[in-house]
Amino acid sequence: MIVLGVESSCDETGLAVYDSEAGLRAHVLHSQVEVHAEYGGVVPELASRDHIRFLLPLAENVIERAGIGLQQLDGIAYTAGPGLIGALMSGAAVARSLAWALDIPAVEVHHMEGHLLAPLLEADAPAFPFVALLVSGGHTLLAHVEGIGSYRIIGQSLDDAAGEAFDKTAKMMGLGYPGGPVLAKLAESGRQGVFEFPRPMTDRPGLDFSFSGLKTFALNTWMQNQQDTKDQDQLRADIARAFEDAVVETLLIKCRRALDQAGSDRLVVAGGVGANQRLRLRLHQAAKKHRFTVSFPRLEFCTDNGAMIAFAGCLRLQAGQHQPPDIDARARWPMDELQPLASPDA
Ligand code: KG4
Ligand code: ZN
Repeated sequence: MIVLGVESSCDETGLAVYDSEAGLRAHVLHSQVEVHAEYGGVVPELASRDHIRFLLPLAENVIERAGIGLQQLDGIAYTAGPGLIGALMSGAAVARSLAWALDIPAVEVHHMEGHLLAPLLEADAPAFPFVALLVSGGHTLLAHVEGIGSYRIIGQSLDDAAGEAFDKTAKMMGLGYPGGPVLAKLAESGRQGVFEFPRPMTDRPGLDFSFSGLKTFALNTWMQNQQDTKDQDQLRADIARAFEDAVVETLLIKCRRALDQAGSDRLVVAGGVGANQRLRLRLHQAAKKHRFTVSFPRLEFCTDNGAMIAFAGCLRLQAGQHQPPDIDARARWPMDELQPLASPDA
């Protein structure tokens, strides 16, 4: 089965062609960084307009790169939520119309399910069941995953998502948008231990997260030290390092706790913050020491992309799922409302 995947939930237009026999045939990505940079964050209306401009040319491009004709497509998968409603509707309208014109089924994909399944695109794909840590700009959650569509949320952020905290902390120190990768880069020249940030909610039982206090902690540290410091760049870097260390260690503590609680030795990490090098390093070290396995998607598939949507959609289409031709998208969509593909025991 050959499936075109369409991702347009936020500020990236991603398209891909996934072939259930040959694997990923092609993927293309257009980032809107330049569109939103001058505003310091994503402007929803501009995002929708940019998606509309790029969706069809990118679809043509990815089909050509995949070395197929439109007629060879067996289905189209698109992100139906959660995300920015106008951005979602742009992708949904293109995907559904194309499916209707080609007389093939279209299937809705949950954006976070796309992220969660992205590590399964790799050669050493983890087997079910496993514990998943999903860390993106909009979500931070731990889930017990028994199979495709069987997601039991065992912990989540009570306020800011980890990526959101990275972005806001970066913005507050004048690092612009998108802040997460810039802050992570800056942290490389930061000195460990110059500032000590708290590890929120690790001193009590449970698997929930709270990152908004860290952002405030970073702001206070920045305000208190700015006056007396000549080297503002080093100060920024030291704060970035302390902030990153705190987020990474908090995630690490909760992941180990979740594995213990679930009786699992398999961890899967996905979402934009999964691209963070220190998180990857620390989790690999912990996995070796505490005898669990950890899987990440390749770097480019941690952040938003069409490949994860084509892949997740292909699995659902193969299982016979698709929706009637109404064009539907949801700004909010709880992940545990998804239909499992089949009973894990079946
Ligand atoms: O998964 P994603 O592309 O979009 C959402 O579904 O939200 O994640 C984007 C988030 C942003 O908050 C971005 O700052 C963060 O992931 N991010 C990073 C890194 N790369 C992206 N955060 C920390 N370190 C990184 N290297
Ligand atoms: Zn995402």
